Amino acid sequence: MLEHETIYILAIESSCDDTSAAVLMNDKVLSNVVATQAIHKEYGGVVPELASRAHQQNIVPVVDQAIAKANIDKKQLSAIAFTRGPGLMGSLLVGTSFAKSLSLGLQIPLIEVNHMKAHILAHFIDDDSMKPPKFPFLALTISGGHTQIVQVNGFFDMKIIGQTLDDAVGEAFDKSAKILGLPYPGGPLIDKYATTGNPHKFEFPIPKVKDLDFSFSGLKTSILYFIQKQTKINPDFIENNLEDICASIQYTIITILIKKLKKAVKLTGIKEIAIGGGVSANSGIRKALVDAQTKYGWKTYVPKFEYCTDNAAMIGIVGYYKYKNEVFAKQDVTAKARYLIS
Ligand code: KG4
Ligand code: ZN
Repeated sequence: MLEHETIYILAIESSCDDTSAAVLMNDKVLSNVVATQAIHKEYGGVVPELASRAHQQNIVPVVDQAIAKANIDKKQLSAIAFTRGPGLMGSLLVGTSFAKSLSLGLQIPLIEVNHMKAHILAHFIDDDSMKPPKFPFLALTISGGHTQIVQVNGFFDMKIIGQTLDDAVGEAFDKSAKILGLPYPGGPLIDKYATTGNPHKFEFPIPKVKDLDFSFSGLKTSILYFIQKQTKINPDFIENNLEDICASIQYTIITILIKKLKKAVKLTGIKEIAIGGGVSANSGIRKALVDAQTKYGWKTYVPKFEYCTDNAAMIGIVGYYKYKNEVFAKQDVTAKARYLIS
């Protein structure tokens, strides 16, 4: 284990449609630059080929900005950490190739990072507004591509104990939003409209799924049928009820998540709960997690907003811990579109 050294990590994230670079000094974030790709809005979802091209355009300026904001010189960098997967192959390739070349150029180690692990370990970023959970804890990772409950025994000891059998929570949000005619990504918009809506106005079914697994495709279908039926009766149904529909959808999703967490706590006896991933930016979910402290006696951890959606700071914190443990990647490391947490 390397101690007593100031470690500077440059981290790169390019797994989906955000190009991000961050610089960390040990476990503190000096800069965290995110370029969100607006192009996908026109298509109602992420177009992989366009994402890859936009990463190619963004990566150099984003990395330059991250280094400039951190106010360090490239020569001070100890290592380069990058997202190896999971994600879109064309997107991952841009960050992976860039990180490999820069590590060769600067003659510093390369560190590969699992994106989903990074969403979990984002809690360990040293930030005044956050406290890290204690091992072992349960992590609910909710993003556009994943929904998992992970038992986290240590930095490098994680086990998936439940996951979605079909759509991810983020997809449930985004697809519901699409049905309502809202632009991509619809998750944050559902959140926004839900704040002034009545969550009990409309009822959607809670799926019955075994063990700690999830399913969201049935919810999407039931919302679709409901909206089709109602708009046949009243073409202005969505417009007249948008806030209440959004609040009811969000309430249903939160109910599904909390129900499974309660089951996971019962099965494992672990009451330390952390959330991560883009959907943990949702204000209703954040509130439900905070309320669970008094309601169920859990200790819950909600990351700072900017460390929820895709960002390179979370890749950097994993890079820091890997660096300390001298876990480096070789130059022949390749991107992995499917990359399980282990
Ligand atoms: O982790 P993330 O940035 O990218 C993936 O790795 O997928 O997650 C993106 C997902 C999208 O589905 C987006 O709609 C959702 O996170 N999201 C939200 C909110 N902010 C982002 N969903 C609900 N409420 C939000 N406030
Ligand atoms: Zn993510």
